[in-house]
Parts: sequence; C-alpha cells; structure tokens
Amino acid sequence: MRIPLLAANWKMNMTRREARVMVEDLLARVGDLRDREAAICPPFHLLSEVGSLLAARPSIRLGGQDLYWKDSGAFTGEVSAPMLRDVGCHFVIVGHSERRALFGETDSSCAQKVTAAQNHGLVPILCVGETLEEREAGRTQERVVSQLRGALQGLALDSGERLVVAYEPIWAIGTGKTDSPEEANRTMSLLRATLAELFGERIAAQVRLLYGGSVKPENIDAFMACREIDGALVGGASLKAESFARIIQFQ
Ligand code: PGA
Repeated sequence: MRIPLLAANWKMNMTRREARVMVEDLLARVGDLRDREAAICPPFHLLSEVGSLLAARPSIRLGGQDLYWKDSGAFTGEVSAPMLRDVGCHFVIVGHSERRALFGETDSSCAQKVTAAQNHGLVPILCVGETLEEREAGRTQERVVSQLRGALQGLALDSGERLVVAYEPIWAIGTGKTDSPEEANRTMSLLRATLAELFGERIAAQVRLLYGGSVKPENIDAFMACREIDGALVGGASLKAESFARIIQFQ
C-alpha cells in the first residue's frame, strides 16, 4: 500500500547555519522511520548541505523546489533534473501555487517539468489547488482536475510510485485556514479518479496524494485519518524541528 509521505517545503528560508541546526534537531527527535517517509525540500543553495546531513537516514529524502526541463545550457538562474539528481534529490516540487502566481508557471510548463523530472528518475510532487474566488464560485473540482490533466498531458506512467500529487487550496497556504479534512478528502478522491482515467486503476491506487495548506501539529492527525490523504506538504510548520517532527509522527 501507499507509504505516508510528510514533505517539508522550506520555500525561500534558512541560512546554512539555520538549516544545520534544524536538521540535526529533527534527526534527534524522529529516529528511524519505519512505516512512513519524510522529505525536505530546501532552497537550492542548501541542497548539498541538507543532503549530507540526511545521508544516514534514507527514509528522509531530499527534494528540490522547482526545476527547468532542459538538461543544461544557456538558461541563467535555472537548475535541471540531472543537476538535482547529482546533488542527491529524490523528489522535486512542480507547479507550486507561488510559482504559478508569481513566476508565470502554467499547466504546460508544469507538464514539461513533470516529464523532465521523470526522465531523470526524480519523483515530481505536482501541486494543484484553487483560489478563494474559484472555491466560492463552486469551481474547485473543475479547477483542480483541469490542472491535473494539463500537467500530466502526454505522460506515460508505468508506476504510480513515480508520481506524487499535492492538493493545496491556495487560500489555505500560509493563512492559518485549512480545508476541512472531509472536504479535502472529497476533492482528493476526485483527483484519484482522474488519475485512474488517465493511467488506469492500478497506477492511480499507487500515487500518493498529499494535502497542503496550513498543516500543523494540531491538525495533521485529522488529515491523515482520511482515506485518500497519504501525507502532507508543509510550509511554515516545517521550518521548526519540533513542529515538523510532530507532523512526521502523526498518529
Ligand atoms: P503552509 O504552506 O504550510 O505554510 O501553508 C504549504 C505550501 O505552500 O506548500
């Protein structure tokens, strides 16, 4: 069955020193993970540092926050899938709502990134989610299904273990508001049904679906109790060892 995944998205936070202190503290708190996996997606300048600290803990993986779809070349400021592999990444976040809203990411650029990640053995964590206006207009399901289809367009997937999808209602990110676990579960079951249409039931049943948006120690257990929720993508609460450790140790 699907192994729960608790992934930290540090966004544009942390110096090398802060990262070292946080990861050492986290490792001391969580011990070896047996029935779950965690991941840390730090900003690019910390990948090597955090990767070395995590080397002795294979159940806590390293991830990038974005990538470009070309392997190398004249693309100033970008980083490629082979580069992320080279520094030890297992995951890469694709299409986070901040990238879509602030940096012009589209479903078609996400599709190219998902393909590039998979061609190089990285597991993309593809993010989808609706705005508050879409939510209030009753368009959540239509929105997230169209983002999912758009970003997975043309993809050949032979195992659902090679893909993670994060459902993050945009109005819940960094706001302290969360979707109700029941509502999130309903939306995520629709995402799984869409994956089944695209890739077949067997593969859809292997894809891990994460909830994201103001996940905290206080609410993680309720989300993890839902059938379709296989983990969480955590921003703010992943910056402190104590709170991310509690999220990893959900019950
Ligand atoms: P948050 O961010 O946990 O701070 O709401 C989640 C995310 O953006 O992935």
